[in-house]
Amino acid sequence: MKRIFSGVQPTGNLHLGNYLGAIRNWARLQDEFECLFCIVDLHAITQWQDPKELAANTREVTAGLLAAGIDPKRNIIFNQSQVSGHAELAWIFNCVARLGWLNRMTQFKEKAGKHRENASVGLFAYPNLMAADILLYQATHVPVGEDQKQHLELTRDIAQKFNNDFETDLFPLVEPLIFGAATRVMSLRDGTKKMSKSEASDNSRINMTDDADAIATKIRKAKTDPDALPDNPADLEGRPEAANLMGLYAALTDESIDAVCARFGGEMFSTFKQQLADKAVSELVPIQDEMRRLMGEPALIDDVLGDGAERARDLSRPILEKIHDVVGFLRP
Ligand code: AMP
Ligand code: TRP
Repeated sequence: MKRIFSGVQPTGNLHLGNYLGAIRNWARLQDEFECLFCIVDLHAITQWQDPKELAANTREVTAGLLAAGIDPKRNIIFNQSQVSGHAELAWIFNCVARLGWLNRMTQFKEKAGKHRENASVGLFAYPNLMAADILLYQATHVPVGEDQKQHLELTRDIAQKFNNDFETDLFPLVEPLIFGAATRVMSLRDGTKKMSKSEASDNSRINMTDDADAIATKIRKAKTDPDALPDNPADLEGRPEAANLMGLYAALTDESIDAVCARFGGEMFSTFKQQLADKAVSELVPIQDEMRRLMGEPALIDDVLGDGAERARDLSRPILEKIHDVVGFLRP
């Protein structure tokens, strides 16, 4: 059986990278797989979150998933802290994963920066909780953006070590699903940096909630190079900003990068940017309208999360019991 699990942090504005790298793919997978989509609030607090903002962001991200077309009846949508099994299994994995493995995680190094000694223990153990999210449901496939690849390799290592140590085949080796033309959307201000929620400059990203004018302005101001657009994708090598913008266009229109190069090769950025802005606006504006409507109905959102959490608990309960048996924990 194929089961999908994926997560998104409620740490600020959803942006075009989250949408094209993850959420849009989730909406496309829901017909084919049994899916759980989780708003990972336990992961969010590995770095300081204002409690009121955390609650508001959890609802906003949920509204984003619903507005992107993810059906809460067919799928399970919930926030992580409502299902205590995540934290419980994460503890067990804290005792399976090795310090050396976590020391190699590039996301920890980036997030902890120079003040490593000051980072929370949770930030260091973050990938163990992520492995617990997935394996608590014995999920087999995980759709994410490129930046999560290393964490999924660690999830496989944890599953394998657990299975070996306890002589069981309880945990599957998960397969990452990283697909589409925008698996790594870059900053509009610097084509070598990932578009991210935490970047200080708002002009570096297109937020899911930006209106049409803001989208057009940010794309118009996006960093470029002085050359015309290439007609051959190979010539995007060494031109990170051109590669990013053409990749965005390809993702938004569901075309290959070859087709986008064939169409715009030889043109200047100004004409192309106008068309890219039009595509981004027509994709995002209907989603925003729906998000705004849903944000006006917080009780409905809370119901979706409560119902999802209940179904997630039911699904995880027998698996967690088996885990307890395998580890040797007595239970009632
Ligand atoms: P996060 O916002 O870090 O919780 O990420 C949620 C999902 O969006 C994950 O699957 C990420 O891999 C994906 N994602 C985040 N930033 C980007 C980006 N710049 N490009 C593509 N995917 C992204
Ligand atoms: N770490 C992921 C991110 O920041 C979010 C996440 C948490 C996740 N748990 C997960 C993604 C489980 C996939 C599966 O993007």
